[in-house]
Amino acid sequence: THVVTEACIRCKYTDCVDVCPVDAFREGTNFLVIDPDECIDCTLCIPECPVEAIVPEDELTEQQRDYLELNAVLARQWPRIVARHPPLPKADTWAAVTDKRAWLDT
Ligand code: F3S
Repeated sequence: THVVTEACIRCKYTDCVDVCPVDAFREGTNFLVIDPDECIDCTLCIPECPVEAIVPEDELTEQQRDYLELNAVLARQWPRIVARHPPLPKADTWAAVTDKRAWLDT
């Protein structure tokens, strides 16, 4: 599967959503996740994300590792998103911030 990681938090550009052939994305208030049961590893979403938040499972860093389980858990709770919408208001500011885990709304 592919995994949405920390860089997405408080940005939520949603460019990724439009290219997903199986509508595998799920939407929270300030983060998206990918449903691992639906992702077909097509890789199309990877270059779409302006902050490089999407990572194949086998390329996750140690620091990103817990996002694998987080995507799986939140995908069962959050609604499907099928079309791109504008990013969060301060997305460009938050794009430059690392260590955003504390701001994740679950
Ligand atoms: Fe998030 Fe990047 Fe998609 S910021 S919503 S993973 S385009």
